[in-house]
Amino acid sequence: MFSTKKIALILLASYICVACAVAPFSKSEKSKGIKKMPKIIPGKDYHSFANSDEVVITHISLNLDVDFDTRTVHGKNWVFFKRIDKTAKQIVLDTRDLTILSVGVKQQDEIKPVTWSMGDKDELLGQALIIDLPENNRQALIVEYTTSPEASGLQWLKPEQTSGKTHPFLYSQSEAIHARSWIPLQDTPQVRQTYSAVVKVNRKLRAVMSANNDPKASAKFSSYSFEMPQAIPSYLIALAVGNLEFHKISYRSGVWAEPSIITKATLEFSDTEKMIQAGEALYGRYAWGNYDLLILPPSFPFGGMENPRLSFITPTVIAGDKSLVSLIAHELAHSWSGNLVTNATWRDLWLNEGFTTYFESRITESVKGKAIKDMEAVLSYQALLDEMKELAPNEQSLALDLRGRDPDDAFTNIPYDKGRMMLDWLEKSFGRKRFDGFINAYFESFAFQSITTEQFMVYLEKNLINKYPGIVSIEQVNEWVYQAGIPQTAVIPTTDLFAKIDTVINLWSKKKLKTSEIPSQSWNTQQWLYFLNNLPKRLKLTQMQELDKAFSLTHSTNSEIAHIWFLLSIKHDYRKSFATMEKYLTSIGRRKLIVPLYKELTKTKKNKAWGQGVYAKARSGYHGLAQGTIDKILDKNCCL
Ligand code: BES
Ligand code: ZN
Repeated sequence: MFSTKKIALILLASYICVACAVAPFSKSEKSKGIKKMPKIIPGKDYHSFANSDEVVITHISLNLDVDFDTRTVHGKNWVFFKRIDKTAKQIVLDTRDLTILSVGVKQQDEIKPVTWSMGDKDELLGQALIIDLPENNRQALIVEYTTSPEASGLQWLKPEQTSGKTHPFLYSQSEAIHARSWIPLQDTPQVRQTYSAVVKVNRKLRAVMSANNDPKASAKFSSYSFEMPQAIPSYLIALAVGNLEFHKISYRSGVWAEPSIITKATLEFSDTEKMIQAGEALYGRYAWGNYDLLILPPSFPFGGMENPRLSFITPTVIAGDKSLVSLIAHELAHSWSGNLVTNATWRDLWLNEGFTTYFESRITESVKGKAIKDMEAVLSYQALLDEMKELAPNEQSLALDLRGRDPDDAFTNIPYDKGRMMLDWLEKSFGRKRFDGFINAYFESFAFQSITTEQFMVYLEKNLINKYPGIVSIEQVNEWVYQAGIPQTAVIPTTDLFAKIDTVINLWSKKKLKTSEIPSQSWNTQQWLYFLNNLPKRLKLTQMQELDKAFSLTHSTNSEIAHIWFLLSIKHDYRKSFATMEKYLTSIGRRKLIVPLYKELTKTKKNKAWGQGVYAKARSGYHGLAQGTIDKILDKNCCL
């Protein structure tokens, strides 16, 4: 859905960047008969069937029936569209595992069927729904369908899988390309639509969406109405249904959660309003009206998801001391980077996640102080370096070639932390004042648009690099964006608050400091994480025992600390923590916390067998995305 001006911009940018955007094949590779991939076209979405250069959806009126008995959603949606190409004969929508029942058009108060067909099934992308467009003056279609109980974008939970254990729960996760598994639409981040919805639920449960959620709306016949008046990409359409209550944090912010955890959650996230204000001071008015948090059951596979007006949040960040709330800063930051200015394709994901990681740190600095921000930066940098050891060079550039790959694979630390480091470098080079001015103008120029890496580069060159000449060259930026590794220009994060922990580790490992003398009384979560992450590679079993005895690490209620302790326990065969680890693995489903543990368990035969036993119990409680990842790590079919 590019205007002529935009297309010209893309062509120009792709011309400039041919050498860097596309890894050309060498002559010898060609002569060896390696198949040459055609040049990547920036702005082309390789993960959607939609013909959005001809026709675009502008509004969807959802009419959804949520059935917990059959685990299906029955939809009868009006899809409003606009013709970009007046001669267009068809509209192509994305679907995955949907049963299409009918497609029609309104004619004199009657619905008249139109012809449609399904394209071939694609393992990665699903199936195109090809609809013959009604004659020229019509701009709406009605599509009736049901979802599959296995829809990749929906997770249906039994009561025992929720925090309260009394009511079932349903939630959607549409990013990256799962919206198509519960709504037939143009599932590409470059099409934005408004939506309205009526959601009927066959239980006395509350539905909430990434839209206006009125806590006072009573569940008349268990039917709820929603309005999302701002145009958003499909991956931000979200729904959850459960036994939910609402507690206010401020006049525009609050927490939705199951009654059993709502009080704890509201306390944990009580700084949310402060964060919104910090975000506004940095990047301009919060554009979305309300900002609420929905606390999901523990199987939610992510830390958070930035669904507009209603971020979805894992309960594993409720530590009791607000020490993991940077996650809220992150999801909130997406209200600017991602939700306001969106990546045009999944290749450009770093524009969403890199900017958001940078903003998250700025919000954290403003609300929690520079010390916390710096400590988190060092921890992320260490995690990035660790992960990069395992990533092929072509996975280490910011702009990724994801053709033929699942866009969910793009979510490594590269777009997040390498992206953030590039922005740290620009901030340092130009100074905060100028860089903040640039970012504010960037948001203003591209608000409610989806843009490519190349559009960003053109804007950057004009409005920052050339505006203050002699500071940074476009070649240096190209290196960050199109090449592997971390450029020499990077600002490497450091903090004195970790230097003293290095000293403790050093003395303790040389037996110059007893375990009981480790001065941890004043350590915060980030210092604990640094300590555990940076212990010598090989510890003696007695050292593990001493640490556990002194600090009860096996029973840590902080999910991040527990995670690292369990990793160490597997590495050192410290069996005392295995029973608690089993509880951990069977009660939470956040991929970041569980996947590295399963991976580490595969390293010995005995642990792999143990891991498979745990997974056999845990698997049915995990989200499909987590199942997919862990199925690949442990032998497939071991644990069905
Ligand atoms: N947009 C992502 C969630 C996501 C990740 C959706 C991968 C689809 C595929 C969200 O904003 C995010 O980045 N979450 C992180 C939080 C973190 C970096 C603070 C997560 O879930 O770990
Ligand atoms: Zn994010």
